[in-house]
Amino acid sequence: MDSRVPAELERKIDEAIGHYPSDQKRSAALPLLHLWQEHFGLINDDAVTWIAAKLGLQPINIFELVTFYPMLREKRAGKTHIRVCRTLSCAMAGSYQVMENLCAATGIQRKTDPAAAGHTPVSVSPDRNYSIEFVECLASCGTAPVCMVNDDLHENVNPDSATDLLQNQKPAITNQQSVHPLEQRIIFKNIGRSNWKTDIKTYLDDGGYDDLRKAVKMSRTDIVNEVKTSGLRGRGGAGFPCGVKWSFIKPDEKKPVYLICNADESEPGTFKDRYIIHEDPHQLLEGIAISCFALNARTAYIYIRGEFPEGAKILERAIEEAREHKFLGKNILGSGFDVDVHIHRGAGAYICGEETGLIESLEGKRAYPRIKPPYFPAVLGLYMCPTIVNNVETLCAVKHIIAMGGAKYAQFGRPNNTGTRIVCVSGDVERPGYFEIEVGKVTMGQLIYEMAGGVKWGRRLKAVIPGGSSAKVLRADERFKIKQKQPDGSMMEEEISIYDLPMDFDSLAAAGSMAGSGGVIVLDDSRDMVWVLNNINEFYAHESCGQCTPCREGSLWMKKITERMLNGGGVTEDPHTLKTIGDNIAGRTICAFGEACAWPTQSFVEKFPDEFAARARKSIPPPLPPEDTSRELIEREQIPTSPLAHDPGWEKAGADAVI
Ligand SMILES: Cc1cc2nc3c(=O)[nH]c(=O)nc-3n(C[C@H](O)[C@H](O)[C@H](O)COP(=O)(O)O)c2cc1C
Ligand code: SF4
Ligand code: FES
Repeated sequence: MDSRVPAELERKIDEAIGHYPSDQKRSAALPLLHLWQEHFGLINDDAVTWIAAKLGLQPINIFELVTFYPMLREKRAGKTHIRVCRTLSCAMAGSYQVMENLCAATGIQRKTDPAAAGHTPVSVSPDRNYSIEFVECLASCGTAPVCMVNDDLHENVNPDSATDLLQNQKPAITNQQSVHPLEQRIIFKNIGRSNWKTDIKTYLDDGGYDDLRKAVKMSRTDIVNEVKTSGLRGRGGAGFPCGVKWSFIKPDEKKPVYLICNADESEPGTFKDRYIIHEDPHQLLEGIAISCFALNARTAYIYIRGEFPEGAKILERAIEEAREHKFLGKNILGSGFDVDVHIHRGAGAYICGEETGLIESLEGKRAYPRIKPPYFPAVLGLYMCPTIVNNVETLCAVKHIIAMGGAKYAQFGRPNNTGTRIVCVSGDVERPGYFEIEVGKVTMGQLIYEMAGGVKWGRRLKAVIPGGSSAKVLRADERFKIKQKQPDGSMMEEEISIYDLPMDFDSLAAAGSMAGSGGVIVLDDSRDMVWVLNNINEFYAHESCGQCTPCREGSLWMKKITERMLNGGGVTEDPHTLKTIGDNIAGRTICAFGEACAWPTQSFVEKFPDEFAARARKSIPPPLPPEDTSRELIEREQIPTSPLAHDPGWEKAGADAVI
């Protein structure tokens, strides 16, 4: 044993390695890096060499993780490390002000790296007591602005008294106490309930694990058929039918089958999975155990984002309790079926939510999404074995489908859009929060005006991003032609306003956007759409994994252009250039991040042309690529133009003869 690694740390390291098959030790790379950083405060060359040797890898295999995952640090942070969320809902609620005030109070001079824009590296106070960084959406947009102080999440931070954060107080997580009459709570039944605790006794007293008892007496095919009958569509973003995905696993599959619960929840505007994990972990474990039984998957991993350290601990405890009660482990409930569930923590990269990026990350590599085909991890997934990846909320829904039967579940919601789902409302509303609704039974108008208390006092609705920041923006004054399947199977077309738009997959797709992850971001008439888009563009530019040129370069160009427009350097070509860049990303990349980063730009520029034109006044061509925007271009009102040498060919092509 290396003398510098204390016995207790090495014990934890060996335990972590034991969570993965003996020939797949590389998977333990991220857990080991977390353990090392928690103990030593940083990952230095010694750490890289030691961990690589421990896992039988080359140092580069470990070092490439340190440089990829933002939560891993090569330099020590301050004693108190603060993460300020800079993503849209928090930025709208004043998180940039929070950052400024915290820096002033701690004496931190933030280094400004123009290439990294808002994402300067971790900045440390001169006394090394504090360090601070901007991070992306912490999945608590309904209580924006939010910060993490070490491992604790602080909600509703008042920018003017942000320094209260430094008082070492343990924050109390706020919950919505009341259930709105338009809600239909099934999955969120216990969230915010008084006297509800996360321990297994509370869960069992409430009938917990009865559905697992029922499931292990059913045949696997019957369970899959119930899920198919329910019409459940995945709640992670794509809305793919869960039962259909499950049926890709062959009943006589010879290779091990894996289930992965996607708890990466990082789509800006989305904050539902965190509440389930923090407040009702056994509901999720029961859903996982039932799903594993149905799929004959003897191992499940919960891939939880690194920014949920408390959630990971809660789940670890719940797994222990479930094992003690024989709901997990060997021969569960005397069924002869063995199942193990392990927690695997990410380390701060949005792309880990994309299922093939997630699998790569779980295998101990950079989260580079895999080239398709195969299109589904059900064909080739974790360790080249059939793998089902499902979102936290989807797996919880499975439990309720077993409880009530697929047909009854399908009666909730609308045809092809069945069941309930949690929608998260943030941004410019009076009462941001989460609401569990029957899919499509609530309209956008009801959601914003009745459930979320309406647009902020004195303001008017300007636009809505309906399904996480990747969804195309909808204008408040748009009219949508929607074809709806009626309960009798007939189709009916109607033209409706945004207020009457049903909150379901098909209607939002017909309106030209998507239901996505259920994160609804509301924008009022005080919002500058170039500013909003720039905030979104910064997210994608930071989060692109960098594999595909159109995505890596295009997301950065789009951000640089919107940033230049905001700084007063916009040129007349900018809206067109933005659109062209977006058009050249979507459909040309390995994963759907390409569309996710192009759609906001394409839709904002198309739907708010006047605002973009107003910030694009200067009549000279932009520098292409927009790597550098000269100060002159930004600062001077008009850039002098100089005539080009006469070239009739250019004139014929319609080009201005000036530059
Ligand atoms: C860029 C990107 C990010 C994603 N992030 C998440 C995420 O944070 N959580 C999630 O459940 N699904 C996310 N997804 C969707 C997953 O790839 C996958 O479709 C989903 O986990 C499947 O579960 P479901 O069928 O239950 O929805 C993301 C997809 C993309 C393209
Ligand atoms: S589209 Fe973007 S995020 Fe997806 S693989 Fe390509 S570079 Fe990575
Ligand atoms: S938590 Fe800050 S934007 Fe989501």
